[in-house]
Amino acid sequence: MKLATTYLGLKLSNPLIVGASPFCDNVKLACQLQDAGAGALVMRSLFEEQIDLEQRAMVRDIELAASGSAEATSYFPEYSEYQLSLDRYLRQIQGLKALVKVPVIASLNGYQPGGWTDFARRFQEAGADAVELNLYNLATDPNISGAEVEADMLETVKSVVGAVHIPVAVKISSFHASPVNFGLELEKAGAKGVVLFNRFYQPDFNLEDFEVHPQLKLSDSSELLLRLRWLANLSPHMKGSLSATGGVHTSDDAIKALLAGAHTIQLVSVLLKNGPRYLYTLLQGMRKWMEDHGYESVDQLRGALNQRRCPDPSAYERANYIRVLQSWRV
Ligand SMILES: Cc1cc2nc3c(=O)[nH]c(=O)nc-3n(C[C@H](O)[C@H](O)[C@H](O)COP(=O)(O)O)c2cc1C
Repeated sequence: MKLATTYLGLKLSNPLIVGASPFCDNVKLACQLQDAGAGALVMRSLFEEQIDLEQRAMVRDIELAASGSAEATSYFPEYSEYQLSLDRYLRQIQGLKALVKVPVIASLNGYQPGGWTDFARRFQEAGADAVELNLYNLATDPNISGAEVEADMLETVKSVVGAVHIPVAVKISSFHASPVNFGLELEKAGAKGVVLFNRFYQPDFNLEDFEVHPQLKLSDSSELLLRLRWLANLSPHMKGSLSATGGVHTSDDAIKALLAGAHTIQLVSVLLKNGPRYLYTLLQGMRKWMEDHGYESVDQLRGALNQRRCPDPSAYERANYIRVLQSWRV
């Protein structure tokens, strides 16, 4: 049975990859993930704000450790709060590349054009096999339209793509008015793949202290459904790769993402909950499902449930929406 897949032009032993997270901060853990079967590893992100801060400090010869976040607004983390400095990040890429055989994907996180995008070149020089650019942004300025937000994002993608010859994947949120069109615009801007979707870490109100509390809850399988819908809609149109991130917790979840059209499936919460060895269990489950259902390769099942055979996906979605609402009786 062939679990091998191609992602961003890279050959992977199987579609399960470790998503951007703290896992790769630790080379020993990264090796354990590889040994348990990870097809590739995505490192945690370096942030636009972090790169700007360090680069501005270098230009002005400011001691970062002493100056703290004087250059940043008070909302942002102190410089020392970032887990990896730029130098450490580059050394981490080299360390991982020296010890693991699977592709290492470095991650940049920002959404507006600027000098920071050139940092992708430093990833490449350090040995990264690809870059994942996370365009995380919550647009709150009433004067900026959705079109302007997306134009900035596309410019950012072009800058990153222009800085490197390794492939660039772009991780996006589901909050675009026309996600399929935006996915294709990302391809035109040079992205070799799209990663669906960012999770928004939704803050809650505390009714006692009147504070807003940011919180990071791990996902569950219910979050996969949004990804399945848009993977199924985007995959018939994309030339490049698609990756699912968010809500893959079981081997059935992984199979569903492939059926919707994903080339890879990124795992974070499930591995934080169950540890690296769980990758092996998931791969075993996928093999069993494929065997039971007569599939010999993941290529065979990829996209089998996407919207390719649906002549009018918009009408189909709208019809299902109406039917579901009509199905309730009280
Ligand atoms: C502790 C933690 C750290 C994360 N760090 C990053 C990051 O640095 N960059 C990024 O793009 N995504 C980051 N993510 C998001 C994950 O890559 C992933 O998209 C998200 O957790 C959804 O996948 P899951 O359902 O498998 O957890 C992080 C997630 C967690 C839980």
